[in-house]
Amino acid sequence: MNQPFYITTPIYYVNDVPHLGHAYTTIVADALARFHRMRGDDTRFLTGTDEHGQKIEEAAKTRGLTPQQLVDQVAPRFAEVWRTLGISNDDFIRTTEPRHKRIVAELWKHISSTGDIYLASYQGWYCVGCEAFYTESQLVKDGDAWVCTIHRKPVNWVDKERSWFFRLSKYAQPLIEHIERHPEFIQPDAYRNEVMSFLRGGLKDLSISRTSFAWGIPVPEADPEGLSHVIYVWLDALTNYFSALCEGGELGGPLVEKYWGNVIHLIGKDILRFHAVYWPAFLMSAHLPLPKTILAHGWWTVRGEKISKSIAATRIDPVKLSEGLGSASQYGLPIGIDAMRYYLLREVPLGNDGDFTFESLFGRYNAELANDLGNLINRSLTLITKFAAETPPAFDETFHADGTENPSFQLESLAVETCRNVARELQACAPSRALEQTWRFIGGTNRFIDQTQPWTMAKAKNPALPHTLWTLQSSLWLIARLIAPVLPAASAQLRGWLGDHGPLTWPESTSGRVLTTAPALACTMPASPLFPRLDDAAQAAMLSRIVPPEVLKPAAPAVKAPAPTEKPPAAAPTTTTAATIGMDDFKKVELRAGRVLSAQAVPKAKKLLHLSVDLGEANPRSIVAGIAERYAPDQLVGKQVLVVANLAPAEIRGIRSEGMILAAGDDSILGLSALDQDVPAGTRVR
Ligand code: MSP
Repeated sequence: MNQPFYITTPIYYVNDVPHLGHAYTTIVADALARFHRMRGDDTRFLTGTDEHGQKIEEAAKTRGLTPQQLVDQVAPRFAEVWRTLGISNDDFIRTTEPRHKRIVAELWKHISSTGDIYLASYQGWYCVGCEAFYTESQLVKDGDAWVCTIHRKPVNWVDKERSWFFRLSKYAQPLIEHIERHPEFIQPDAYRNEVMSFLRGGLKDLSISRTSFAWGIPVPEADPEGLSHVIYVWLDALTNYFSALCEGGELGGPLVEKYWGNVIHLIGKDILRFHAVYWPAFLMSAHLPLPKTILAHGWWTVRGEKISKSIAATRIDPVKLSEGLGSASQYGLPIGIDAMRYYLLREVPLGNDGDFTFESLFGRYNAELANDLGNLINRSLTLITKFAAETPPAFDETFHADGTENPSFQLESLAVETCRNVARELQACAPSRALEQTWRFIGGTNRFIDQTQPWTMAKAKNPALPHTLWTLQSSLWLIARLIAPVLPAASAQLRGWLGDHGPLTWPESTSGRVLTTAPALACTMPASPLFPRLDDAAQAAMLSRIVPPEVLKPAAPAVKAPAPTEKPPAAAPTTTTAATIGMDDFKKVELRAGRVLSAQAVPKAKKLLHLSVDLGEANPRSIVAGIAERYAPDQLVGKQVLVVANLAPAEIRGIRSEGMILAAGDDSILGLSALDQDVPAGTRVR
């Protein structure tokens, strides 16, 4: 208690607006920050946006914006979504802010002064999606193209680009030693093992500047050849965790002193290497202390596909989802936000992957929120307020004392154990287990009512009734605290009904009791249930409001070969029987439905059209298609087409082509492939 506690999320790329995957990271960090604040820890919670690099520069270009215009448009959307979702961050950092840029330049100078930076030239593969250099052993081959395993898109070849290098190789052994000495450094254990085996394979020096584009922080030292370099975006981005604490442009200061030794970087497993290898190596080189913990979580998928900006069907908007789950809010945030937080944090133990399904979301909502918690609150408050006039809740030591047959004593024992366990699990960054423990206590309180039957006690004028009602009321007081880190809106609402206006602190047991620490309360009856049950009709209505239709359908319809009775094409096709392929080969082809946004002739190429095609991604694809002899540009605008979405990009007549339109015909095009009904852009075709 009263320890400094500093938690960070990754800073998000601003090439698109936040989706549920981003919300997950931010909500986990928020729940942990709320818990530590309740414990009285001096808590600081940082999030922000990652605004430099090739990816942002390219995204801006495709939208016809300058990078600065793009980042100024999108960064506030992140801040706004977090505000809407009630995220309690203390700071929001943007890497284009002067306070950050100054510190990145300072850090570079410190690293450089240790002799760890040198000039050379880089040649190799680069994934713009990851903003990372890869060796072929880290990629997969798809036809002729090398493809990044995260973005599943072909990587770019960087051809002998002059670059400043960081002597990363020097830090493999020191990092191994650090991880061995600090088992808490990388969590959960599986991720520590992954990093250790990566380190044991040895490290290559790292290119930490780029000269082929300009959107970044300038390298603060001169290249003797006069080339302008910008700092590698990961060196820039990682520094945010530190720069947000620095004041006056110095690498240090009171906030650094207070918080830096206690920082937890919460990250997705996709960016483990940057955080657990590069970042500590940069810090070691600059003689700065390392973060306490890198805490990695798994991925959320929708039907097995990672939720990501580029796959429309997986892009679930967290604001819409939470609105769909409930807008009631008497004491603060809408309750639907809590339902979403509960599902995300309860469904998957931190570190594991999870598949998002509405079945499990509704299942948990109805069983655990509406039934277990919601009903408990309703029936308890009904009982307490009903009997309040004649037998107000009152503590009575005789009915609270030790005794295995005494329900109040049993519930007190469970309360003490639960407080301890929930605190331990949240301290260990395990919200799923903390919720499991909390629900054990909720179950215990429901059983307490069934066992004691206050309505029968009232009829029998049982003298233990006031104490039974007091036990119930104090248990609700405790529950309002146990759920507060994950369910802040429900907690506020419940505390309102209990008349509990005291500070929201973590309940600590005194003399082996915790219910007895509850203050005097004045309960009122809720006008409506906290989590109203979602019946089938409510579920269906909600689904249609909040998710893209392709997420709802059982599976994307297969595109079948035409039935034999269908009319043959105008000219008989030349049929050659190609060698058969297996399903695995076919699955490598990523076919998607797209919509043509614009089409224009390609000068001096009578067969070619340049199309802009919406595939439901952040940016439309530029595709050059050999269909000009069959289709005029204006026949195509608005048309649905099928696209090979994972074809390696190519340069055709100086135009970048990022996919292929499916068309029928050998030498001449006879028609474009189509679906028998409209589907959203980006829908997978199998
Ligand atoms: N900008 C970098 C991070 C720099 S930190 C110094 C970046 N940004 S990102 O926007 O692509 O993703 C940030 C984080 O979002 C991921 O690491 C992860 O925490 C979270 N997620 C993105 N997609 C996710 C899922 N599908 N599931 C869970 N978390 C996901 O990487």
